[in-house]
Amino acid sequence: MALYTVAFILAFLHLANLTPLFLPEEEYHFKQWMLQYNKVYVLEEYYHRLDIFTGHKRRIDYHNAGKHTFSMGLNQFSDMSFAEFRKTFLLTEPQNCSATKGSHISSHGPYPGSVDWREKGNYVSPVKYQGHCGSCWTFSTTGCLESVTAIATGKLPLLSEQQLVDCAQDFNNHGCMGGLPSQAFDYVRYNNGLITEDDYPYTGHDGSCNFKPELAAAFVKDVVNITSYDEKGMVDAVARLNPVSFGYEVTDDFLHYKDDIS
Ligand SMILES: *[C@@H]1O[C@H](CO)[C@@H](O)[C@H](O)[C@H]1NC(C)=O
Ligand SMILES: *[C@@H]1O[C@H](CO)[C@@H](O)[C@H](O)[C@H]1NC(C)=O
Repeated sequence: MALYTVAFILAFLHLANLTPLFLPEEEYHFKQWMLQYNKVYVLEEYYHRLDIFTGHKRRIDYHNAGKHTFSMGLNQFSDMSFAEFRKTFLLTEPQNCSATKGSHISSHGPYPGSVDWREKGNYVSPVKYQGHCGSCWTFSTTGCLESVTAIATGKLPLLSEQQLVDCAQDFNNHGCMGGLPSQAFDYVRYNNGLITEDDYPYTGHDGSCNFKPELAAAFVKDVVNITSYDEKGMVDAVARLNPVSFGYEVTDDFLHYKDDIS
């Protein structure tokens, strides 16, 4: 009976769009999560974070119980509202990440049902963390160029995002204030190379350019844009050529993204 009452109140609060209450096991999950991510709060903050966390966890569980092409999970951001996350981690000024008119020419297939470059060989580098710097464009650039280099040479390098943050301004990029992968590839092409993460480590802050030509470890011969919304062009490029850089808008459900393709 008590449980029904709680469920009823929860449903009512949900309809009324008020702050959700939480059940004892939800608080237990929150405490487990706090331990996992070393979170500590003062009392008032604790209940505020518990509220946000509980809202997120319900959304994640609901999503994962349904049929979707991607799954959600808790992560280190699960105590932040999306507005807070956006203010802390996303660029204030949205970038126009796609080429309105690209020059990629698709073949006519046929294409395999799926392609996973991680299964074809050592072609995909691990996920990296950009910190509090609007440098997503540099990670997209290095990820793609690392794969292309590995496919061409058989060796997967880890390349420097910081070189792009510090040095690619002449190609309409703005360090921690944003940029575009296509313009970063242009920079690498005309600069004659990108050096490795080890030789030019990531700081997550704008700095002065410290490129050393003798250390260049990866090169760009040509850059090709895919027209925005041309999903067939994306499939074609990934299936036939190599992993590519995609730009897309981060909406609130992406805060809980875990794996697979949305
Ligand atoms: C993006 O494109 C729109 C429309 O073309 C333009 O008004 C806006 O200034 C552009 N934003 C950036 C960051 O380049
Ligand atoms: C690709 O598109 C971007 C954004 O519109 C543009 O800045 C860049 O110059 C284009 N690159 C090529 C090679 O067409």
